[in-house]
Amino acid sequence: MVENGDARGAGAAQHVSRLVAPESAPGVRASEELERGNILFFPRSPFPLSEGDRAFLLDQKQTGAGYHKNIAYRPAENRLTGTDKMGEAATAHLKTILRSYSDWAAAFLDRLIPEYSGQWTRDFASYRSIEEKGRTARTTARNDLAHVDAFPTRPTHGDRILRVFTNINPSQGRVWITSETFEGLAARFARDVGIPEEPGAGAHSFARLAKALGIRQWTRSPYDSFMLRFHDFLKENTEFQEKCIKQRWEFPPGSCWICYTDMVSHAVLSGQFALEQTFLISRKAMALPDQSPIRILERICGHPLSR
Ligand SMILES: [Fe+2]
Repeated sequence: MVENGDARGAGAAQHVSRLVAPESAPGVRASEELERGNILFFPRSPFPLSEGDRAFLLDQKQTGAGYHKNIAYRPAENRLTGTDKMGEAATAHLKTILRSYSDWAAAFLDRLIPEYSGQWTRDFASYRSIEEKGRTARTTARNDLAHVDAFPTRPTHGDRILRVFTNINPSQGRVWITSETFEGLAARFARDVGIPEEPGAGAHSFARLAKALGIRQWTRSPYDSFMLRFHDFLKENTEFQEKCIKQRWEFPPGSCWICYTDMVSHAVLSGQFALEQTFLISRKAMALPDQSPIRILERICGHPLSR
């Protein structure tokens, strides 16, 4: 069962995530639920994973516990990374499974939210085979500290980060906490994080230079730069981590859940063996555009943060 145990201070919160099970609420509009910062939950993942493939995945023991040890699949290149120490046959098998998860997630998203169709790109898929409890990493790379996602190497310019997770562990739940959603956090912290007060300040000049030079990782908008700083700010803010609202969710074995992780502040406390596919959804596809992080920030600073 999913637990919603500890919502310390939730009385003061106006922006917390809810779990929504579309299969038990047929009228629900999935896009709007996600865009409000809620989590779509499917008790039985519709991903058809054979017992043989599951056994193979559970048998993959990654060495080392570094942050970058997730096995990632890049659909656009049909390439797997993070498998340096695996043999050729195992790597090929893993790639086949991750490719099928990626294909399944894309088809599932299309069925679930047809209004997004044609307005997203498929980012990486990953296999998370390391036990999250006790995992060591530098502060800003820790998964067990509440944060919203931002990608250092893939600026989104206001497009959204949507992730589809499946817990393939046969016996152990994957435990998250979520805190306030983006709107509440931005209202409290945007100025501390250094939201650009002037139009054109910050990353635009770098972006122009980088574009001219063809350096992809520099083509960040002020929005992207802010989101990266926000990610680090939350993880490094000890007081926030200690005192923030915490709702605990346990995603049971075999379940699937979907959320905008640029909006739902989340931390993974424990769990091992999960599949995940990331989508970048165009900001133009939003059913509730005013609730997207870039629009929330632009209301605060009063000028555009991306072109
Ligand atoms: Fe995250």
